[in-house]
Amino acid sequence: MTVERVGVSFEPELLEKFDDLIKSKGYTNRSEAIRDLVRKSIIEAHIESEDEDVIGTLTIIYDHDVGDVTNELQHFQHFHLSEIIATSHVHVEKHNCLEVLMVRGKAKSIRKLADHIRAIRGVKHGELVTTKSSV
Ligand code: NI
Repeated sequence: MTVERVGVSFEPELLEKFDDLIKSKGYTNRSEAIRDLVRKSIIEAHIESEDEDVIGTLTIIYDHDVGDVTNELQHFQHFHLSEIIATSHVHVEKHNCLEVLMVRGKAKSIRKLADHIRAIRGVKHGELVTTKSSV
C-alpha cells in the first residue's frame, strides 16, 4: 500500500492535549491516531446519509413481564428478516433481559427499525450503534 505524507500544523497547547489523549488510548504514534479520527469522521458522515448501507447492533433492555413485550419483539423480528440478521439474549435478573440485535440495511430504515423497537411497551432502553465495513 502506498501512503502519502501530509503535514499538519497544531498550536502547542492543542498538540499537548492531543498527545495526552492518544497516549491514554494506547496509540504509539500520532499518524495512526489521526488516521483513525479521519476514518471515524468519514463513517459518521456516511451513516448520517439516509441511503448508505450500514451494519451494527441495537442493544435493548426490557422487562419481559410487561404486557406482551416478548411476543411483540419476536413478531417484529420475524417481519424484518433481512434487516435483523442475528440476536443474542441474556437473562439479566428476574425481570430484565438484555438483547443485542445485529442489524444491517439502509441507514434510514435501520434508524426507523430501532425507533420502532424502542417504542414497544416494556422496552426500557435501546442503543443503536452503526458503522460501515469499508471507508
Ligand atoms: Ni430473558
